Amino acid sequence: MHHTKIVILGTGGTIAGTASNASSDIDYTAAQVGVSQLVGGVKGLDGDIETEQVAQIDSKDMSFEVWTALANRVHHHLAQNDVQGVVITHGTDTLEETAYFLQSVLNPAKPVVLTCAMRPASALAPDGPQNILDAVSVARHEGAQGVVVVCAGDIHSAQDVQKIHTCQLNAFGSGDAGLIGFIQENSLKLLRNWPLDQQIRVQVATENIAILNQVKCWPGVEIVMNYAGASGALVDALVAQGVQGLIVAGTGNGTVHQSLLDSLLKAQAQGVHIIRSTRCIQGGVLARTDDSFPSSNGLSPVKARIHLMLSLMGLRA
Ligand code: SIN
Repeated sequence: MHHTKIVILGTGGTIAGTASNASSDIDYTAAQVGVSQLVGGVKGLDGDIETEQVAQIDSKDMSFEVWTALANRVHHHLAQNDVQGVVITHGTDTLEETAYFLQSVLNPAKPVVLTCAMRPASALAPDGPQNILDAVSVARHEGAQGVVVVCAGDIHSAQDVQKIHTCQLNAFGSGDAGLIGFIQENSLKLLRNWPLDQQIRVQVATENIAILNQVKCWPGVEIVMNYAGASGALVDALVAQGVQGLIVAGTGNGTVHQSLLDSLLKAQAQGVHIIRSTRCIQGGVLARTDDSFPSSNGLSPVKARIHLMLSLMGLRA
């Protein structure tokens, strides 16, 4: 059977937001408009499209329950023969986390394209409709695969994408890795490869989903940051509460204040998993011979946290 259907899953965000004043791009409420209404308003969107509302939230409130529901629905739709790809409408604030989570859990052979908007649906010139149109054209692109993010015409990998601006329409960057590609005049220009293929991934995705569906309580993994005058007080308090893992958003190449380091080493000695990342938005941390903690392998603190939580739950990510 020919794969032609695109399934668009709604989760909320500014793209589904409304404001009482159409000229305001700031004072609005996210997650008000249903995904079918949003998609219905996109001029030029044609072909076989199905919509489904998985959640309706401001993505700052993203939860493990919504992630689990979303992973299940994406996995389900991708398994259908007539589905070519999945598009997800999402808030910009935690979009990079959801993208990384889905890529890690599903590593899909078909495209899963997250998109968003910086202006609410009720704005005078909303950016959501064009982003949805672009996301669908990426999902329909021959050879597209893996989880990617489309915003303002740019295509980012789940691994590298970060929200880097609070208010510009083009709010995302992929740092040193650069874009996967971009959409220009309705055609896709590819700059590097789609996220990598793996032979056994359908089976792994199914096993990962089964684990997620059984887990009652996700492991406690928190992020602590290094800064001038940092102490170990937060780490000590988290260890006392039973935290299982800590990601350190260190300064520069993952360096930490001596007081924070002392508490982290104590925590590690008590069995807490510690991963060294950086608060710098580019560059990642490079391993040093005297490292006390493993590095995050280029992952930002929020993505390193997801990676650690998934591996503590036994997922193959
Ligand atoms: C959200 O993340 O849900 C609100 C902010 C946005 O989408 O830009």
